[in-house]
Amino acid sequence: MLTEQPPTKGIVLAGGRNLRLHPVTVSVSKQLLPVYDKPMVYYPLTTLMLGGVRDVLLVSTPRDTPRLEELLGDGSQWGMQIRYAVQHEPRGIPDAFIVGRDFIGASPVALILGDNVFFGSELSQKTRDAIESNRGATVFTYPVKDPRQFGVLEVDAQGKPVDIQEKPHQPKSNLAVTGMYVYDNNVVEIAESLAPSGRGETEITDVNRAYLLRGQLDAVQFGRGMAWLDTGTPESLLDASLFVQTIEHRQGFKIACPEEVAWRMGWISDDALAGLANGYRGRPYGDYLEALLDEGAPATDGYAN
Ligand code: DAU
Repeated sequence: MLTEQPPTKGIVLAGGRNLRLHPVTVSVSKQLLPVYDKPMVYYPLTTLMLGGVRDVLLVSTPRDTPRLEELLGDGSQWGMQIRYAVQHEPRGIPDAFIVGRDFIGASPVALILGDNVFFGSELSQKTRDAIESNRGATVFTYPVKDPRQFGVLEVDAQGKPVDIQEKPHQPKSNLAVTGMYVYDNNVVEIAESLAPSGRGETEITDVNRAYLLRGQLDAVQFGRGMAWLDTGTPESLLDASLFVQTIEHRQGFKIACPEEVAWRMGWISDDALAGLANGYRGRPYGDYLEALLDEGAPATDGYAN
């Protein structure tokens, strides 16, 4: 008898000290800083939404969690459920699964780092497919010129993972492991078994290696037609803003607008979108939401991001 798998839950990890952005982040959460016209956290959150994830846990610091909650609420306005948990110290990315243990329960879980910006026509489909077909762990890779500051995946001729390393001095490939991951429910137990690395934190790469050793690590490759952007330094944050501005001005569509994504996913009605637009009445964001309604019925075809 087939037992039905519970829907995949989502975690957005949005804490950390973010020292590289000091003094900007001395008193403000990095994930609340603008990437052009929206708070940074909208980008990873909408990436999960496009993957079909409606039940999300936001993990952040004691200082920043209330602010994130003020921004995102309980998610019901977008046909979602958003809950919050505090990470008291940045003990490592896998700590999100320990902080989120009760939220995860018996479900599979997709984790996205709150500072990762993805854009491109492959994004929705590949994320959704990975969530639906995950059989252990799935990572998403992206080719970069200098992979030394990332997790790096080595694959065989068939694209199957053979090795994974965190910030290697001599990378064996140009495939950076991006900050989005899909796991089965064993991830909680694996996270609990990890020891901190040399930098005093547990490493997500050690979680992925545990799956690799079990023969249960899959990799989805995002191609060069996609954008995966950093936001960790003043330069990369500005670059990301300029990228979003360029695309939005050219197309007239916004990237990572949760109201729009929820509406196009069919999670909220036209009336609900009109209500959300009304909340921003007289402001450009409200004008944008209102104009979406003038288009008529939600068109999911051709809607990439
Ligand atoms: O962005 C992709 C990279 O993210 C991967 O290629 C690496 O394998 C992975 O280790 C990670 O590398 P980073 O050096 O970027 O990780 P960092 O420690 O900067 O943490 C990423 C984000 O997660 C950052 O915005 C802060 C947040 N964070 C981090 C830790 C360690 C937390 O909220 N809590 C934490 O305990």
